[in-house]
Amino acid sequence: MKVLKTPQEWAKVRIEILAGGQSIGFVPTMGALHVGHMELVKASLKKCDFTIVSIFVNPTQFNNPKDFETYPKTLENDLKLLKESGVHAVFAPSTKTMYPTESEMALSFGSLENVLEGKYRPGHFSGVGLVVSKLFNLVKPQTAFFGQKDLQQIAVIKRLVADLSFQIQIEVVPTKREADGLAYSSRNVRLSDAERKTALILFDSLSKAKKELLDGQEWFAVRQNIEKDFQSSADTKLEYFDLVHPESFKLYSSFDSSQKSSICVAANVGDVRLIDNLPVID
Ligand code: PAF
Repeated sequence: MKVLKTPQEWAKVRIEILAGGQSIGFVPTMGALHVGHMELVKASLKKCDFTIVSIFVNPTQFNNPKDFETYPKTLENDLKLLKESGVHAVFAPSTKTMYPTESEMALSFGSLENVLEGKYRPGHFSGVGLVVSKLFNLVKPQTAFFGQKDLQQIAVIKRLVADLSFQIQIEVVPTKREADGLAYSSRNVRLSDAERKTALILFDSLSKAKKELLDGQEWFAVRQNIEKDFQSSADTKLEYFDLVHPESFKLYSSFDSSQKSSICVAANVGDVRLIDNLPVID
């Protein structure tokens, strides 16, 4: 497995790959790799001849400096996992390489900025859009792989690809969960044992709400009950629990089984912020 630190190193490798007629699959990550990331890697290895994974903790997408400081950094272990999985190359640039000068550029994703992650993490999607554009321009893959756990990020990236005419196919990989339902996330390692148990409230509330909606209950009542569940669970703070169209992120005020919908949640467990989502109607 090649570990490349600069775009120039990667450019040389890329020429050889293309000369050999191989397709390039790309998995962008911020490291702290877990089973969920490895599903993206597997999908890329299956579909593409050559898989490159990037590891870069992108400062411009953290609206909260403490979240950036405490974001887990486990490069050595990440490289080991990737090597074992059969990944061909890792692009692990420095911050100076990605941002030689402090960027003043901001991207806006219109209505996607006004709800859920866009609303509660101002500037987050601008930072994601900026770094993903840089990575797409540098790596120039045919296909890029993203996890469904970051559902709104997928909508943002699809907008980016359409609006900036990137010739890159976006593949969405379903959320990978632990046996009890907790979605794999790099942030899970920051949960204490007790918080890890409490964190199940995210998946449990999504599953409960989905069932109740499909049983014919009103969304308003369903959400009110979930809010009560969070209030009575010590050490959790619900940020949002919303029913949305999974591509436009239009918020629904009621459930309609003839329309695509997903439920999205964000909550703090202790001081760890977690997100998750569940499709209701695909
Ligand atoms: O999903 C992530 O890990 C990040 O948002 C991404 C896409 C790698 C951009 O930094």
